[in-house]
Amino acid sequence: MTKPEDKFKKIIAHCKEYGFIFPSSEIYDGLSAVYDYGHNGAELKNNIKDYWWKSMVQYHENIVGLDAAIFMHPSVWKASGHVDAFNDPLIDNKDSKKRYRADVLIEDHVAKLEEKIEKEVTKAAKRFGDSFDEQMFRETNPRIQANRKKIDDINKRFVAALEADRLDDVKALIEELEIVCPVSGSRNWTDVRQFNLMFSSQMGSTGEGASLIYLRPETAQGIFVNYLNVQKTGRKKLPFGIAQIGKAFRNEIVARQFIFRMREFEQMEMQFFVKPGQEKEWYEYWKEERMRWHLALGIPESQFRIHEHEKLAHYANAAVDIEFNFSFGFREIEGIHSRTDFDLAAHQKHSGKKLQYFDPETNESYVPYVVETSIGLDRMFLAIVSHAYKEETLEDGSERVVMNIPPTLAPIKIAVLPLMKKDGLPEKGREIFDTLKYDFHCQYEDKDAIGRRYRRQDAIGTPYCITVDHQTLEDNTVTIRERDSMQQDRIPVEKISSIVADRIRLRP
Ligand code: GAP
Repeated sequence: MTKPEDKFKKIIAHCKEYGFIFPSSEIYDGLSAVYDYGHNGAELKNNIKDYWWKSMVQYHENIVGLDAAIFMHPSVWKASGHVDAFNDPLIDNKDSKKRYRADVLIEDHVAKLEEKIEKEVTKAAKRFGDSFDEQMFRETNPRIQANRKKIDDINKRFVAALEADRLDDVKALIEELEIVCPVSGSRNWTDVRQFNLMFSSQMGSTGEGASLIYLRPETAQGIFVNYLNVQKTGRKKLPFGIAQIGKAFRNEIVARQFIFRMREFEQMEMQFFVKPGQEKEWYEYWKEERMRWHLALGIPESQFRIHEHEKLAHYANAAVDIEFNFSFGFREIEGIHSRTDFDLAAHQKHSGKKLQYFDPETNESYVPYVVETSIGLDRMFLAIVSHAYKEETLEDGSERVVMNIPPTLAPIKIAVLPLMKKDGLPEKGREIFDTLKYDFHCQYEDKDAIGRRYRRQDAIGTPYCITVDHQTLEDNTVTIRERDSMQQDRIPVEKISSIVADRIRLRP
């Protein structure tokens, strides 16, 4: 069986070979944690955006879209708390000179304890067979209880230290847990320091008095500062939402795992404005709704997990992550946060402008509360390709790599393939391609043997191949080959469009 880390390397290589993702500025040896999307990657990314946008904006009457600028007034980031609190605690190992996020070192340590618990449970399940009561075992086994207590103690102490900004205690915890540098193997650590993740630059030339400007670290603030514009011009009543897709930038201390943690990435965020007191109900609603959105793509539920936050961001009173089972373990793909009135109240205070809602039912004015859903587009992309990548041995002993990308998201929906490059088959193929291309992203290919062309389409995840052969010229029928089952059926040319449309349609 392929080891998860080997599979991950293969996925990265596959993404490059088939035009999904390239390292940025590769001819200059790349730029750390920045990537470019190739022709197939751009299509897949656009399809994910489209699926999200439709589910949010088109299918919800009370959600509207926005496209705010990346640059914003610097006061926005002071008011939002990002200037003072958007920090990661960093620590260096003096021997390897490698830099780490202190919280990640501690989280990795906790993950190892979790792993020990899971191993204990798996062993016991094998030993006791059908009579195994997992819940009882977890609650009573002394080794599990001891590890659970260790985890709780670590989490409590770490959260308390960070909240009180006691970075010396974070370092003491790393030392007491005997965490070693994965590279040097030593425990020779520097002090822990806070590092602000925002990129900054200057706007205007120095002559005219340049001012400090930030690249936005989240798209959400563009929504908050436009809340009143949208509410008034859209004549929106609470509850209503504003959705946005756009770039965000973070100077991540440790950028790793391909497109999982990037310095320039894209977010798909939605802020849902509600009457104060109704935020818990809407928070539960959006947790369920977002999970439904993920599952509608056909990825099994076992690949997702909900993680309740131990340490809340400076703006939230409740938060969960939807985690996906990447090759390197379960990690956050989307956050759902109950952000109270933190942002609107802060902008109201800093700008001196009222950001309130007049409630016609109660005749009162108040600052709405906000429930946010925030998903990383690149992480969603990584989840899709990680789940889709399969190496298969076929009945005849040959091998293929197939990307089981959900058909609705696939970069190319239909490949039109004349069986041979003669006898009028290419002309007929072109004619079919020209009628389908207005409704589907199609590819026409007549080079190489048909088997090789099928493999190429499998490798980029094309769900349907249409093969044009001599019979097509006689009775206007073609074969349609389905990517996953490789089953081929003969269908009339005029039915291709409705059959494919039916099969790729998705209702979240
Ligand atoms: N507005 C709330 C917010 O930004 P977050 O949990 O910091 O919350 C939301 O980020 C989502 O953005 C994450 O769930 C993740 O999918 C994505 N994300 C965050 N940092 C990222 C990075 N450095 N690279 C890629 N995606 C990232």
